[in-house]
Amino acid sequence: MSNLLKASSLLSPIAKRLEGKVAVITGGASGIGEATARHFVRHGAKVIIADTQNTVVNSTSTESVSFVHCDVSNERDVEHAVDTAIAKHGKLDIMFSNAGIGGKFDRTIKSLDSQDLKRVFDVNVFGAFYCAKHAARAMIPNKKGSIVFTASAVSAIYGSIPHPYTASKNAVVGLAKNLCVELGKDGIRVNCISPHAVNTPILRNGLGMKEEEVDELVCESANLKGVRLEVEDVAEAVVYLGSDESKYMSGVNLLIDGGYSTTNPALIELFNKMSS
Ligand SMILES: NC(=O)c1ccc[n+]([C@@H]2O[C@H](COP(=O)([O-])OP(=O)(O)OC[C@H]3O[C@@H](n4cnc5c(N)ncnc54)[C@H](O)[C@@H]3O)[C@@H](O)[C@H]2O)c1
Repeated sequence: MSNLLKASSLLSPIAKRLEGKVAVITGGASGIGEATARHFVRHGAKVIIADTQNTVVNSTSTESVSFVHCDVSNERDVEHAVDTAIAKHGKLDIMFSNAGIGGKFDRTIKSLDSQDLKRVFDVNVFGAFYCAKHAARAMIPNKKGSIVFTASAVSAIYGSIPHPYTASKNAVVGLAKNLCVELGKDGIRVNCISPHAVNTPILRNGLGMKEEEVDELVCESANLKGVRLEVEDVAEAVVYLGSDESKYMSGVNLLIDGGYSTTNPALIELFNKMSS
């Protein structure tokens, strides 16, 4: 067989990149988590969706998906989600700690609402800690596993998103990097994905805008033109970090932002305006 024929036979049908893996996905009822659950199942994984809202994941194999009610800010709920994975499938290979909330879209420190700050940290930070703790409990005996957190591009670019959310996502990146050191000796990889704006309920509700308005805002302000960031793009990154294809990747905060955080066009835009 020629190399070309060998290559094409590898491409078809779709390679199951997560065959035999068992995953817990928090926040899997909507947006990024829901898309990731679909991609995981398509790639052969068994998935436990852990969320505060119920969902139906469109999947050819419903046996591959189960749902547990889980508020990630409650350690018992997270413990139960991990125990469900072990009871149903005997192990946990991938923890996708993804559930998050945006909090109030109020950007001044003077008007900080301590209840809002607490709620954002309860879900985004304490939730991530509980996911890591119970994933580690399940993975350490097997001496392998992949923990992926959803942080955000606010871990790389500052000033436009409220302080509680920004601080919470930076805490998640700090946790992931520290954990990568602690859990590396047990063969467990720990990474973050950090998307820029994706048109999901958390963003629409935060901005108080309709779907089309959010699209316009994000596309007009994007660095990379001609494409829009969709939940599937983020899900693909999580498939990679969850699979053995990324077996030597750990401690990475993977930005999915089309280069948005690397550039600041303010000076040249003002220059163009002043000289036109
Ligand atoms: N959409 C964006 O622009 C964007 C950008 C960067 C990072 N993120 C992060 O991505 C993650 C997923 O958000 P999304 O965009 O898919 O939004 P989404 O609103 O579509 O989904 C969030 C999911 O989390 C669940 N959830 C909320 N609080 C929970 C809790 N306490 N326990 C369990 N589940 C809970 C919700 O029920 C929902 O299903 C969040 O951590 C968010 O901060 C989103």
